[in-house]
Amino acid sequence: MFKRIKARYECPNENPEGVQEGLCPEEGDEVLSICGSGILPLYLLSKVNRIWAIDNSRRQIEIARYFMDCIEREDYHPLLELTSPRGMKKGIFTRASLERTREKLEGLELIEADLIDLPESLKSQRYSKIYTSNAPTHSFTSRKLISSTLEELKKILRPGGLMYITRVNGAMREWFEKSEELVEDCELTSKARELHGREKGYFPWKPVVYRKIAA
Ligand SMILES: C[S@@+](CC[C@H](N)C(=O)[O-])C[C@H]1O[C@@H](n2cnc3c(N)ncnc32)[C@H](O)[C@@H]1O
Repeated sequence: MFKRIKARYECPNENPEGVQEGLCPEEGDEVLSICGSGILPLYLLSKVNRIWAIDNSRRQIEIARYFMDCIEREDYHPLLELTSPRGMKKGIFTRASLERTREKLEGLELIEADLIDLPESLKSQRYSKIYTSNAPTHSFTSRKLISSTLEELKKILRPGGLMYITRVNGAMREWFEKSEELVEDCELTSKARELHGREKGYFPWKPVVYRKIAA
């Protein structure tokens, strides 16, 4: 039975397959991710080395921990029954994929933290992939904040690494246009976009994938 924690997001509002297409998760990857419902980090986990999933909402961390605990005790039902918010898309996970995720559970850390003010423990690490979801559009209340946060994310992303942003507004786009190190990977952007849209059961997000050019 689904235990209701009353988190705002209890199922993925982005297509995990689309995020996967954009981020190209690989075995050695170390990923900094927004947590949300926890479903996206859990979906990516079996393909990468480690994920640090952050959210500034304690309830989102709690719901993600609930899903993690379900997997830990092999109670796969709540995850097998998940749908997208419009209830159209089922089958995000299969029993086999959850078993693979279970083997990697130790690689997922859930942390209550703010993307725009990362704790030192997260800032001192380097990541091969960063998934911000649409947290920046919620949190970027000024150009100064856009600049300071994106500078920090650029710093902690390894050369060659990818940053997936679900929605890029005008001021953010301007920042990226000036950045010489973070350039859009148009092929990955279009692959990620193809898997979003109402016909796919998801909001028609327009994610952008940026790659950090090796210095
Ligand atoms: C749209 S939801 C993401 C949901 C995710 N796509 C999913 O499908 O589960 C955005 C998440 O970002 C979190 N968030 C927003 N601003 C944040 C910030 N500055 N730092 C950390 N988390 C933030 C919210 O609490 C929310 O859980």
